[in-house]
Amino acid sequence: MEKPGHAPSQIDSKACWPSFGWIAVTSRCNLNCTHCQRGMLKERGLLTPSEMSLKVFNRLESEVFPHLKKLQFGGNNFGEQLSASNWDTFFERVSKRNIDISIVSNSMLLNTARIKAMVEAGVEFNFSLEGVSRESYEAVRGHGYDKFFDIISETCRIKNTRQENGSLVSLGYTVFRDNIMETPELIKKAAQIGVDRVIVTHFSPWEENQRKQCLVYHKELSNQVLDKARILAGELGIIVYFPKPFHTSDRSDTPPSQAGLHQKQCLHPWKSFSINEKGDVMPCCATSVVMGNLETTSFYDIWNGRKYKKLRRTVNSSRPLVFCRDCAFREIEAGSAEPISFWSDEQFLLAAIGTEKPKDSSSLTLHKIKTQLRNSRWGNRALPYLMEFYRRNGAFYVTDIHDNLLTPLGRMFTRKR
Ligand SMILES: C[S@@+](CC[C@H](N)C(=O)[O-])C[C@H]1O[C@@H](n2cnc3c(N)ncnc32)[C@H](O)[C@@H]1O
Ligand code: SF4
Repeated sequence: MEKPGHAPSQIDSKACWPSFGWIAVTSRCNLNCTHCQRGMLKERGLLTPSEMSLKVFNRLESEVFPHLKKLQFGGNNFGEQLSASNWDTFFERVSKRNIDISIVSNSMLLNTARIKAMVEAGVEFNFSLEGVSRESYEAVRGHGYDKFFDIISETCRIKNTRQENGSLVSLGYTVFRDNIMETPELIKKAAQIGVDRVIVTHFSPWEENQRKQCLVYHKELSNQVLDKARILAGELGIIVYFPKPFHTSDRSDTPPSQAGLHQKQCLHPWKSFSINEKGDVMPCCATSVVMGNLETTSFYDIWNGRKYKKLRRTVNSSRPLVFCRDCAFREIEAGSAEPISFWSDEQFLLAAIGTEKPKDSSSLTLHKIKTQLRNSRWGNRALPYLMEFYRRNGAFYVTDIHDNLLTPLGRMFTRKR
């Protein structure tokens, strides 16, 4: 392993210390938003809310934090980071270090003391919403419309008094058919409040009955409204990150070929990592494949372990691992606003929701996996292990687990019959 602090100047097989990390300290949440998979996963026993242990945090603090340039809380799991019982302690310990900090949050658990401490530490806030009118905000988030905008206004006010600290306030707007028309209004509201940046991403449906809310089915409307909002943002001086316009000349909603995506370089296995509340270490926030667990293993050993070595050897080769193949996260700079909006790449969105045949609901997915396994020579013996694997890993991307891991695995078992 190279000396800590080195960044790879080119892709080689040697590792260096990562400079960017996504960290989730809890999968608990104070809300139950209708667009978020979390509620469904919890209801079906696929997500058991938990928190990062002190042991894992201590390990991160001693082994990894000394080398980090930036740490993002949240955005790599389903949960609200501010609802962690150790949040204030964890935050204080990170903020003492020379690390840029950002957070993806629903904002509801902020108070004046927390905002002040976070502004003091120069935090980049990314607050999520799905509606500008009370009706559409609360249709998704349930309640708290006034509170949300009060907190954002207070954060902007406090941030403006301590501009030298470099804090930034962003609004993250997830767009779909029912709320797209409010995007220009969002830009006006952001300018009024003093928000620095608006990041728009597409809603990715996870149940069949949500499919037509996805804007790939309303391409012209989406392009028109977002164009209008982009012009308005320019006039009002708001920085925006919008999804790329859809290709409207292509009338089909079939995923374009993903061929060639894997030819783009990926440096994430050298530069960044993602850690969830259970202490699982993953290569980035685009996959839930676990490289090792910090409850039992040191970060050093995971980072230099067999799995990471294999990943680094293959990721930029002609035969990347299944979950790296066609990944839209290649070449995207961790820590910029891009990772938040990369989901909105049309190719990625179409591939994620599937179009040629209706995408299965997650329960149907599970049912199919069970049937596939029962018919395999491994029969019911393998099932409990697979279900446990799914339960442990399926909490973030049901589609990821299904398409990248379980389907090939199921096929392999079936072939061997
Ligand atoms: C899962 S949340 C976790 C952080 C925090 N609790 C929050 O609400 O910001 C992270 C982001 O994912 C977005 N999100 C949730 N479900 C989504 C979906 N089906 N498609 C696209 N974005 C989604 C949320 O709106 C939020 O901006
Ligand atoms: S979007 Fe965020 S706040 Fe809403 S349920 Fe999901 S994790 Fe919780």
